[in-house]
Amino acid sequence: MNRIAGKRVLITGASAGIGEACARAFAAQGVHLVLTARREERVRDLAAHLASAHGIEARGERLDVADRAAVFGFVERLEADGLLPDILVNNAGKARGLDKLHEGDVDDWEDMIDTNVKGLLYVSRAVLPHMVARDSGHVINIGSIAGRWVYPKGAVYNSTKFAVWALNEGMNIDLLGTNVRVSSVDPGLVETEFSEVRFHGDTTRAKTVYADTVPLTGDDIADAVLYVANTPEHVDVINLVVMPTAQRHAMLLHREPSSS
Ligand SMILES: NC(=O)c1ccc[n+]([C@@H]2O[C@H](COP(=O)([O-])OP(=O)(O)OC[C@H]3O[C@@H](n4cnc5c(N)ncnc54)[C@H](OP(=O)(O)O)[C@@H]3O)[C@@H](O)[C@H]2O)c1
Repeated sequence: MNRIAGKRVLITGASAGIGEACARAFAAQGVHLVLTARREERVRDLAAHLASAHGIEARGERLDVADRAAVFGFVERLEADGLLPDILVNNAGKARGLDKLHEGDVDDWEDMIDTNVKGLLYVSRAVLPHMVARDSGHVINIGSIAGRWVYPKGAVYNSTKFAVWALNEGMNIDLLGTNVRVSSVDPGLVETEFSEVRFHGDTTRAKTVYADTVPLTGDDIADAVLYVANTPEHVDVINLVVMPTAQRHAMLLHREPSSS
């Protein structure tokens, strides 16, 4: 049963990877889209394409979630235009660097904390009051297994995703007694632009992350997000961990060189 057709979703970080896959998946279910990311052309083009392919309303706009004033201004404009979302997918996020803490690049840390933690907070703080006022809405946070298990050289990224876990929990607690739901979808290894961003554009190194194994795709996570969004209003999926079959723990990834 499709319970989400005709609703509106706001997706952060919709220019690539999981966010882009979620945009395509929601559009195919007849959900109207507000797509955001810093690469404006990508989200504008994707919105235009999905609007014509699926007969939905879709807007693509530049939004840097780490820019507090821009986030609050953006949501004010959505309200003025009658485009407030029924579903918010807090997806924008990144890892930057893979270093021992005592050797880490502080600029990388700031980037991760500003995007993954403060960005998610700004967008949630701007959108949630409208959902509470309507007594309806669904926030879906893209967490990670990095928020469940710490791995070597990942401490700062891990900290940001542990924060997402805590914020997901905290929002749920604070929204008790309302019909506003909060869920996290927590992926294991997904092949996207994630590793290219982590390694500052080093595509050769990024490829090694996914070599000789079968990672998840953005579409696999979009499926999970759709499942969560489509549950009836009295159901609240709090955390949904989705791993590749070839991975059973952050530190346990099966690799098998292919014969071809
Ligand atoms: N890939 C994995 O293995 C994996 C596993 C678990 C969790 N995750 C999480 O999944 C989410 C999506 O990652 P992905 O794998 O799809 O990576 P991706 O392909 O690199 O996509 C990341 C998206 O976030 C956007 N973004 C980055 N900084 C932003 C900012 N300051 N403001 C707005 N948008 C920003 C990017 O768009 P612009 O650059 O255009 O702004 C892009 O659309 C992240 O939260 C990540 O932590 C990924």
